[in-house]
Amino acid sequence: MKKRVLSGIRATGRLHLGNYLGAVKGMLELQDDQEYETLYMVADLHTLTTPYSVEELRQNRREVLIDYLAAGIDPEKSVLFLQADVCEHLELAYYLSSVATIARMQHLPTFKDKVKQYPEHNTMALLNYPVLMAADILVYQAELVPVGIDQEPHLEVARQLARKFNQMYDTNFPEPQRFATKGEYVPSLSGEGKMSKSVPGSYISLTDDLQTLRKRVMSAPTDSGQGAAVPQDGPVANLFKLVELVQGVERRREYEAQYTSTGVRYGDIKAELAEAIFESLRPFQEKRAEIIADPGYVDQVITDGAVKARKIAAATLADVRQKLGLG
Ligand code: TRP
Repeated sequence: MKKRVLSGIRATGRLHLGNYLGAVKGMLELQDDQEYETLYMVADLHTLTTPYSVEELRQNRREVLIDYLAAGIDPEKSVLFLQADVCEHLELAYYLSSVATIARMQHLPTFKDKVKQYPEHNTMALLNYPVLMAADILVYQAELVPVGIDQEPHLEVARQLARKFNQMYDTNFPEPQRFATKGEYVPSLSGEGKMSKSVPGSYISLTDDLQTLRKRVMSAPTDSGQGAAVPQDGPVANLFKLVELVQGVERRREYEAQYTSTGVRYGDIKAELAEAIFESLRPFQEKRAEIIADPGYVDQVITDGAVKARKIAAATLADVRQKLGLG
């Protein structure tokens, strides 16, 4: 039996460079490895955990699926689907919630952050976010989950729920592990923390043109360009980390050597970095243009993906219902 891999990207907006280097690269690696059966989804149900626009969700779930395709996820090799098309996720989430405590969910950093961000939307769905994510993974008995390191607390919940369920109901859920990629931490352009869709000025969109890229990179904060030691965190460290991720570690070392001797010229570094990012995005952008020219193809991928995913999920649920005394 092949090991199953599952991952998801929220349908809150379009993919950015952080998603691409942090998660999608790992997804591609696993898709091309014969040892694994890969399932990738658009986490559209999770969008309901924070305030959202119905029209935007309708569009974004499809746009994110197109981004997956343009990034190289191949529906012949991976099961690519929309989460809401497989209602078994919701059913299993409900069963899992019967062994998840409120106290445990309330203590997760992601929950606390979101409550702070939206104090008026402290909902059951938000509290249940990690349980639904556990269901996403366990419904396919997935063992590996390529996601960024920020998702580790959620994976810990998934492992705990699997363990508890197995003990109580004699199910056979594997405890899922995170699959880490080398570019997993993609720093923010704004100088602090990681690249994030919810922080304006922090991210690079995969569909940015060269002019937009230049503008975004140029506005990243820096310092005087010279010093006794290279900063280990903050804006300059972030910029150099991006250089490493896109242009390679050699380039980064050159700049670091300059920093402690002659000094660096940020204008040149940024112009070159913007160019390099653009080049690395070009294949994605070209492929995306081809895909959106053929909406029928996208519809077909969505339909086929749902059928394949449902088949696996339905088998899991038949067994779970039986073991819970519901079948
Ligand atoms: N919580 C993930 C994120 O914000 C998205 C997600 C939802 C996910 N369900 C998942 C990731 C299942 C991996 C597996 O990035």
